[in-house]
Amino acid sequence: MHLDYENLAENAVLLGDAAYKTAKDFLRGTRKFLKEVQYDVDAFRQRDPAAKSDAEILLLYSGLHARTAHRISHKLHKKGYTFAARAVSQCAKMITGIEIHPGATIGRGLVIDHGTGVVIGETAEIGDNCTIYQGVTLGGTGKDVGKRHPTLGNGVMIGAGAKVLGPLTIGDNAKIAAGAVALHDIPAGSTAVGIPARVVSVDGVRVTEDLDQIHIPDPVKEELASLGEEIKELRLALEALKKTADKATE
Ligand SMILES: CC(C)(COP(=O)(O)OP(=O)(O)OC[C@H]1O[C@@H](n2cnc3c(N)ncnc32)[C@H](O)[C@@H]1OP(=O)(O)O)[C@@H](O)C(=O)NCCC(=O)NCCS
Repeated sequence: MHLDYENLAENAVLLGDAAYKTAKDFLRGTRKFLKEVQYDVDAFRQRDPAAKSDAEILLLYSGLHARTAHRISHKLHKKGYTFAARAVSQCAKMITGIEIHPGATIGRGLVIDHGTGVVIGETAEIGDNCTIYQGVTLGGTGKDVGKRHPTLGNGVMIGAGAKVLGPLTIGDNAKIAAGAVALHDIPAGSTAVGIPARVVSVDGVRVTEDLDQIHIPDPVKEELASLGEEIKELRLALEALKKTADKATE
C-alpha cells in the first residue's frame, strides 16, 4: 500500500481546522445558552417571592424546565428537524405538564409559575419578561389559518386559567386577569378581566362601564389637543394686545 504523505499532512491540517472551528462554535453556543438560562433564573428570583435560591429554581421549577426544553426544541424546529423538535417538546410536556409548541417564539425572562396545564401554540409570540400562571392557554379559535395564536408584548402578565385566543395582540405591560378569556386586542398598560375580557383600567386609571372597549381614549393625544387649544387662545389674546398697543401709539 502506498501512502501519499503530502496529502495526508494537508488533510490532517484541514481536519484539525474543522474540529477547532466546530469546538469553538459549540463553546460559543453553550455560553450563550447558559447566559439565557441564567437570565430566566434571575427572572424567577425577581418575580416569584417563593423562590429561595438559584439551585432550587434550576432543579425544581417546572416552568424553567419547560422553557429550557423549548429553547432546544425551537432550535431544532428552525433547522427543519420537526420530528426531533416535537419529541423534545412532548418529553418536556410529560415531565412538566406544560406544552409549548417548538414553533412558538419566546423572548427572555419568561416566568411560567406553577405551570401545570399551560399550552402555548405554534404561532404564539411572547415578548421579554412576561409572566404566565398555571392553566393558561395561548391558543387559536379554530377559525384562523397561518398566524392563529396570540402575540404578547413585553412585561405582560396572564393570570391563572386565562385563555387568550386568536391572532390578537396583548400590549406591553398589560394584565389579563385570572380566569379571563381574551378574544380581542388588549391595549398596552391595561388590565382586562372577565369573559369575554373587558378592559377595566389603563395605566392604573379606572375605565368607566359605558366606555367603548375598543376605542380607549389616548391620554397623550388628549393632552396635545388641550395644549393646542390653549396655544390658539393665547395667540388670539396676543393679537388683541398688539392691536391695542398699535392703536395707543397712533
Ligand atoms: C387582574 C389582577 C392582575 C389585578 O389587576 P389590577 O389592575 O390591580 O386590578 P384591580 O385589583 O384594581 O381590579 C380591577 C377590577 O377588576 C376586578 N377583578 C380583578 N381580578 C379579577 C378576576 N380575576 N376576575 C374578574 N374580575 C377581576 C376587581 O374586582 C375590580 O373590579 P371593581 O372595579 O368592580 O372593583 C389580579 O386580580 C389577577 O387576576 N391576577 C392574577 C394572578 C394569578 O393568576 N395568580 C395565581 C397565583 S397561583
